[in-house]
Amino acid sequence: MQILDGKQTSQQIRNEIAAQVQQIKSSGGKTPHLAAVLVGTDGASETYVANKVKDCEEVGFDSTLIRLDETTSEEELLAKIDELNRDQEIDGFIVQLPLPDHIDEHKVTLAIDPAKDVDGFCPENLGNMCLGLPTFVSATPNGIMELLDRYNIETSGKHCVIIGRSNIVGTPMSILLSRNSSPGNCTVTLLHSRSKDIADYCRSADILVAAIGKPGYVTGDMVKEGAVVIDVGITRVADSSKKSGFALAGDVDFDSVKDKCAFITPVPGGVGPMTRASLLQNTLLAQKARN
Ligand code: GUN
Repeated sequence: MQILDGKQTSQQIRNEIAAQVQQIKSSGGKTPHLAAVLVGTDGASETYVANKVKDCEEVGFDSTLIRLDETTSEEELLAKIDELNRDQEIDGFIVQLPLPDHIDEHKVTLAIDPAKDVDGFCPENLGNMCLGLPTFVSATPNGIMELLDRYNIETSGKHCVIIGRSNIVGTPMSILLSRNSSPGNCTVTLLHSRSKDIADYCRSADILVAAIGKPGYVTGDMVKEGAVVIDVGITRVADSSKKSGFALAGDVDFDSVKDKCAFITPVPGGVGPMTRASLLQNTLLAQKARN
């Protein structure tokens, strides 16, 4: 079994981006600038956004963190998005999800200028992705594709089983892996909460992507010998041995799967860091397209 090391691979990507940023700056170009909007104080979202800002610093991007109170109205958030859409200094921005219940996520996603939608969540960018046109591919699916590519994992003609049909991960992943491209050309099965015979489908997977947010869901008996296992889960579970009081748990039961598969992404250190690197890649693309 070989570990698909997202930590190391993402560092490589950040180094590549930092070199490009240096070049842009030394030739008098505009420094890429990412803004992140955080509504409320959800612990996990706080961490994600803080990491995004830290990543920007490392590669030489400018970043702006906009914190809005939990009680911010939908109208106020939409006004902030309008402001960011028109701000010539900002190349791309994200609104961290989930949002408080009183705010309609779809309305927010639709309000973001597609040219600045570095999350790739808006219909125009998702549509471009479906058609194989240049676009911002959302960060987690893009990070997984990048990992498969950089580890030269053969995907053509393989059976890929994806567990979970979220708009952010499962659904775009199913499209990317079935496209006529490399990585791609998989035969894809997308499993979800109404699927039957889940374990049987999983056992037939050459590539298994688990993205349901249920710690330890995929066990060794569900994995084919020699499969590639991609674990997208990052659920916080109580762990008194940690200073923070929690540990991150993947959707895959690593210990029972590791001796059956050929490749596996660990949690932490697999898909998570790749997701972060993808956001930087998209922000650089946005800067280049705008300037
Ligand atoms: N919440 C969890 N993942 C993401 C992400 O990739 N983008 C945004 N905006 N919110 C998230």
